[in-house]
Amino acid sequence: MTTELLGTDLACLRRAAGLLRGGQLVAFPTETVYGLGANALDAAAVLRIFAAKGRPSDNPLIVHVSGIEAVHQLVAEFPDCARRLVEHFWPGPLTLVLRRSPVVPAEVSSGLDTVAIRMPDHRVARELISLAGVPVAAPSANWSGRPSPTTAGHVLADLGGRIAAVVDGGPTGIGVESTVLDVTVAPPVILRPGGITEEELRAVVGEIRVSSNDPERPRSPGQKYQHYAPRARVVVVEGKSAEEISREIAKRIQQCAAQGRSVGVIATEETAGSYGQVPVVVVGSRNRPQEVAARLYAAMREIDALGVSVVFCEGLPRRGLGVAIMDRLERAAGGQLVKAGETTLESPLRVLFVCTGNTCRSPVAEALLRAAVGQAAPGVAVEVASAGLSAWPGSPMSGHAQDILESDFGLSAEHSARRLDAEMVRQADLILTMTEGHRRAVLELEPSAAGRVFVLQEYVGESGDIPDPYGGDHQEYRVMVSTVEKAVAALVVKLRDGC
Ligand code: TXA
Ligand code: MG
Repeated sequence: MTTELLGTDLACLRRAAGLLRGGQLVAFPTETVYGLGANALDAAAVLRIFAAKGRPSDNPLIVHVSGIEAVHQLVAEFPDCARRLVEHFWPGPLTLVLRRSPVVPAEVSSGLDTVAIRMPDHRVARELISLAGVPVAAPSANWSGRPSPTTAGHVLADLGGRIAAVVDGGPTGIGVESTVLDVTVAPPVILRPGGITEEELRAVVGEIRVSSNDPERPRSPGQKYQHYAPRARVVVVEGKSAEEISREIAKRIQQCAAQGRSVGVIATEETAGSYGQVPVVVVGSRNRPQEVAARLYAAMREIDALGVSVVFCEGLPRRGLGVAIMDRLERAAGGQLVKAGETTLESPLRVLFVCTGNTCRSPVAEALLRAAVGQAAPGVAVEVASAGLSAWPGSPMSGHAQDILESDFGLSAEHSARRLDAEMVRQADLILTMTEGHRRAVLELEPSAAGRVFVLQEYVGESGDIPDPYGGDHQEYRVMVSTVEKAVAALVVKLRDGC
């Protein structure tokens, strides 16, 4: 398919509206980021969005409307506080989660009984929706997991050839996505920080809660995914002052240089000069977070174009729009967040592997990581441990696993199983589980681990569980060990790059 690049005059918008009505996908500008639109009332068209973006089907879409009248047919209930919010903030970057009416296909909401709706503050978006004559479901128009697009060029780079058209309305203004607010509960809950700040919402509806960023029980399914990420590894550095942050980054840059890693920095104007020869992409002044938000995603794409392997990002104070900016940075970093001054380069990173019985998968991971760190990344200080959710304390490693570690890797298989407890979880900087079920169980045991606990395979950019060979033959154990070995090798690279 060739993707048509359309302008914003009436003829072009009519053409785009016709495509939407015909069930096709059209990307268009909003005041936040470019959206990838489809007729929200046409289930088949909506499913095309998920396919074109490579989006997980459990991540629901926002329905865009051009006028408030259109909302009523889409929702089963329109509470009073929603009315007040709409009066204040629409058109604008506020998405309201409301009870879904049966008119909205379940596909839009990934089967939830709610629907997210917003009216964008962009002439082109509203004119297009109104010409199409239907509500328009639209996620950000990026390839899933990539930074959201703030220009038509970004859309084409990710989705060119996969969608019918892009309406080019120039760069978007706000640059981070809308705030998603659940108004089906009282008080309303911010599910995703965005263009409208918590303070602004409070001023209109009083009490507001902020969703605990518990990736386990995401009220907004999108929040559980690593997102908005450049291809390079991202390390976000926070600190009390701009100077403290830039000093910490400068120190880490030197260490990366000593290891031959190529590094880039996403910096604010005030400190952009602190990094010597290292390529720096400037996002604007730290005193004007609007500027930073507007440039953030383009900066992530620019840094990718430089081909560096590690990107250090200066953190911003978590106030006002800074909350949304830090949310996106944290997601891009996949949890690799550094507090300047708090962790010294010498203090070891405590890694804890978790499986069920602590006799096979997690002790194998422990032994392999300990060995690999010594060989492949001598500059990285890591302390490794393992534990099992329902371990029989003191059990040795399973016989097959012992044999393989000893014969194939020359490693000692001495091990004594430990049962996981909350204290072990609290002590660890990074907890890596063998399965999604383990990850959930760790969070249940110690909810404060959210943000530090990951499925091993996902953490290293793969997917799926480490298979449990329990009860299987030698060959099944070999498959498990070699899967763990690969994951551990990728993990070492990741830890080393995070220097
Ligand atoms: O600014 C924006 O919101 C942009 C522009 C294009 O409007 N759109 C956007 O869409 O960011 P998307 O799909 O990238 O993000 C939508 C977010 C996801 O985190 C999703 O999980 C959440 O909204 N969401 C959608 N429907 C929901 C629902 N019914 N309940 C809870 N969360 C929902
Ligand atoms: Mg998105």
